[in-house]
Amino acid sequence: MPGAKNFICLFFLFCQLTLMYSNDTLQNSYLRKGISLNGRWHYIVDVYENGYYNYRWEPHDNSENPGSGAFYLNSKPKDKMDLVEYDFDAAPTINVPGDWNSQKEKLFYYEGTVWYKKSFNIPNYDSSKRYYLRFGAVNYRADVYVNGKKLGTHKGGFTPFNFEMTGLLKEKDNFIVVKVDNKRGKDEVPTLNTDWWNYGGITRDVTIYELPPTFIENYTLQLDKENDEIITGFIQLNGDEKANSTVTVSIPELNIRKEVVTDGKGFAKFDISSKSLSYWSPDNPKLYKVKVSSAEDHVEDRIGFRQIKTKGSSILLNGNKVFLKGISIHEENVMRGGRAYSLEDAKILLGWAKDLGCNFVRLAHYPHNEHMSRLADEMGILVWEEIPVYWTIAWGNPETYANAENQLKELIDRDKNRASVIIWSVSNETPLSEERLNFLTRLVKKARSMDGSRLISAALEDHGKEDDPNIMVVEDAFAEELDVLSFNQYYGWYGGDVTNIKNIRWEIDLNKPIIISEFGAGALQGYHADNLTRWSEEFQDLLYKETLPTLARIPQLSGITPWILVDFRSPRRMLIPIQNGWNRKGLISETGNKKKAFFTLKKFYSELELSEEEKGNIKN
Ligand code: GCU
Repeated sequence: MPGAKNFICLFFLFCQLTLMYSNDTLQNSYLRKGISLNGRWHYIVDVYENGYYNYRWEPHDNSENPGSGAFYLNSKPKDKMDLVEYDFDAAPTINVPGDWNSQKEKLFYYEGTVWYKKSFNIPNYDSSKRYYLRFGAVNYRADVYVNGKKLGTHKGGFTPFNFEMTGLLKEKDNFIVVKVDNKRGKDEVPTLNTDWWNYGGITRDVTIYELPPTFIENYTLQLDKENDEIITGFIQLNGDEKANSTVTVSIPELNIRKEVVTDGKGFAKFDISSKSLSYWSPDNPKLYKVKVSSAEDHVEDRIGFRQIKTKGSSILLNGNKVFLKGISIHEENVMRGGRAYSLEDAKILLGWAKDLGCNFVRLAHYPHNEHMSRLADEMGILVWEEIPVYWTIAWGNPETYANAENQLKELIDRDKNRASVIIWSVSNETPLSEERLNFLTRLVKKARSMDGSRLISAALEDHGKEDDPNIMVVEDAFAEELDVLSFNQYYGWYGGDVTNIKNIRWEIDLNKPIIISEFGAGALQGYHADNLTRWSEEFQDLLYKETLPTLARIPQLSGITPWILVDFRSPRRMLIPIQNGWNRKGLISETGNKKKAFFTLKKFYSELELSEEEKGNIKN
């Protein structure tokens, strides 16, 4: 009966598509009590993806009767005659969270599929509860199954996602199987070429959350951008009882207790006035305990309240002009090796930034793990976060745009309550074209629609004027869309003579704050020579000594994030014996040793005090 068979296939496809996208991410899961699945997972390297496709290259999970080759079934032989050509429980194990490249020598360069399996019990399993499975991040594509059933697929290597597992679990002997594929792709985000290592795997925490039938899915509390005595926000409930439900928002320290009633969709907006707020800032990283309670759920968070705005070429934090003494950072713990993922890793990286004298960090070139933004909240470090719309993205592909926008949405959703985060950046060094301008302009509109409280930027590029190479310009229509004009400039390293930097100047007639989002030079730590010998610490130091005072002459300069805090792994950096697969522009080596330029930048920041009139209280 072809008709019925087609109907069943279409229905199945519909279910697949519905499941394909993860649920809205659970807000503030970080402070919810969950069941951690971190630890050793079994893994199978599947170069030909035969655990996913049958020999006709059809996905097993599109089949009504997937053969024994479907790895997500975690099959065992029925008897001594039965053929099952894989066995997770006989397979080796790997740490989750953690990339496979730095854990398994044979996987150092591997790009492809690795299957992961984790068996688990649910203590006090309660079938009346709802169960979510949340990943802090998986690079790059994850196909997720529980007890042999497909939960869905997620693409994007640096943002959290979750799937609902309600009704698919039991008290004992559950198993999760994840197909992780880190192959790069022309139409992916990022695309084929990047200057960082393509670490694959389940690179961040994995947690199960047991939730009441109607729970608090999302919320925001932010200081109103125009009135610093008003906290604005919203609550979103999820569940059958979400409509017309009373939710209480309280900030005990301020004696605030606000009751709101949700609308038919479980949503409620609110304003709370307070005349006694202590505003969050680097000098006063004040966080308030915030409690959100509904009939069946209760969450607590720690939130700082501050305003970030621009006025002409100044950036104003709580009405005061601020200069962003920053540094760029990649997400690596170079001493252990591989992707950073833990609070301890965050303490190392932000500790070095603090030691440098920074009040600002650019978390390049993708969303870092949540420990970084939460620790920055506690330490009083301002943060620039960005999505990996990097270099030559497939601007004309609608799926590529949807992927980029989804990663932006997941980032903003995760960190919108983090006072330290002041800038969302939507791209880095992207080549000019009409398609690229449209693509990026749409992303800016999306960011503003989700969060009007922060500044929007992107790392653009500059170049020398034809008739006078000592005059640099930024000719990019996209600059009009941005609150802060940021650009990378490498005069003296990629072109230009380091001894001529003092004669360079920028001709930028935009009345907007300017951040130099990258400059730097490579140096092998411990290699000493005269200061015109490339790759020596002295050369890197000379470039900093020449560049810093030259940048300081840019009238609109409001911040710098030199490239970069620490040497980092990159397949593009194979100069033996200097690079050996490392980008050497770090101020610190992969062994944690500081180079001469670290101390030059530290001195510059320590001497950089805004003059009194500049510090003046510029009330907008
Ligand atoms: C570019 C790019 C970085 C890269 C750096 C470099 O500016 O944004 O990702 O690592 O240059 O060449 O070192």
